[in-house]
Amino acid sequence: MSLSKIAFIGAGNMAQAIFKGLIAEGMEAQRIIATGTNPERLTALEQATGVVATVDNLAAAQQADTLVLAVKPQMLKNVCEAIKPALAHRPLIISVAAGITTDSLARWLGEDLAIIRAMPNTPSQLGLGATGLFANRLASASDKALADAILGAVGKVEWLADESRINAVTAVCGSGPAYFYRVMEAMINEGIRMGLTPEAARTLTLQTALGAASLATQSDVDVAELRRRVTSPKGTTEQALLSFERDDIDGLFSRAMQACAARGEALAQELGK
Ligand SMILES: NC(=O)c1ccc[n+]([C@@H]2O[C@H](COP(=O)([O-])OP(=O)(O)OC[C@H]3O[C@@H](n4cnc5c(N)ncnc54)[C@H](OP(=O)(O)O)[C@@H]3O)[C@@H](O)[C@H]2O)c1
Repeated sequence: MSLSKIAFIGAGNMAQAIFKGLIAEGMEAQRIIATGTNPERLTALEQATGVVATVDNLAAAQQADTLVLAVKPQMLKNVCEAIKPALAHRPLIISVAAGITTDSLARWLGEDLAIIRAMPNTPSQLGLGATGLFANRLASASDKALADAILGAVGKVEWLADESRINAVTAVCGSGPAYFYRVMEAMINEGIRMGLTPEAARTLTLQTALGAASLATQSDVDVAELRRRVTSPKGTTEQALLSFERDDIDGLFSRAMQACAARGEALAQELGK
């Protein structure tokens, strides 16, 4: 990866997932700068990972040729306006903040910058992330290749031709891990009510989720076919699935994902001014 120095503005969960992935891929930790507001946490991070950690966003931005914005969306406008004077060298900007559009970022940082928006998710910590990417019109093919390599270091990436589709990506994979955790919680709880020990209910549920996802990713047939293959006519699984249909499982997920995407849109309106 032709990346001389990368700075993460905000070194929380998502930033750490990404830069730990880059280090695992062979990038020297010394070429990574990570910023935050808590000096003790930054020292601990520096010792644990070898990255250069600092409270100085301006200095970090000045030194980097790629800047990953990874603070909470509510803080992003202030952080961007504060680092704007350090961007005369026009680094590539990659933002992982939910809801904030490339137009808002350009207004806060400078209209002449290449900006790429990324919507990753937390399994990136294990290299199993799923990320949607959108590039503004100033991003070159090599900027896009760089963003692809950075986010690709922690999982799979999909490019979007239209920025509004980021809300769909948020609904599918940004927030998606929480949906699966909620399903697992429900299965664990019902397993316990049906007489399993909590340990057994947890182990069997999690292993089933892992096995099902692994089988689906490694199989050359689609998930509907995999479902049909475990659903014998008049069998036990069929009864569970008929119960899901009576409870309108498609409608349930449709309403949840629409609500998630609508919140992404509302955040963009609220915080992008
Ligand atoms: N977590 C997810 O699943 C997920 C998925 C997709 C996108 N995202 C996006 O990723 C971004 C970060 O989320 P997160 O979950 O990683 O949050 P997080 O763990 O709270 O990380 C945010 C970090 O920002 C730092 N920070 C706060 N104010 C700062 C400032 N003025 N200058 C520099 N750093 C500052 C904080 O460091 P201190 O504690 O030292 O202040 C904190 O470590 C958000 O915009 C979110 O929308 C998250």
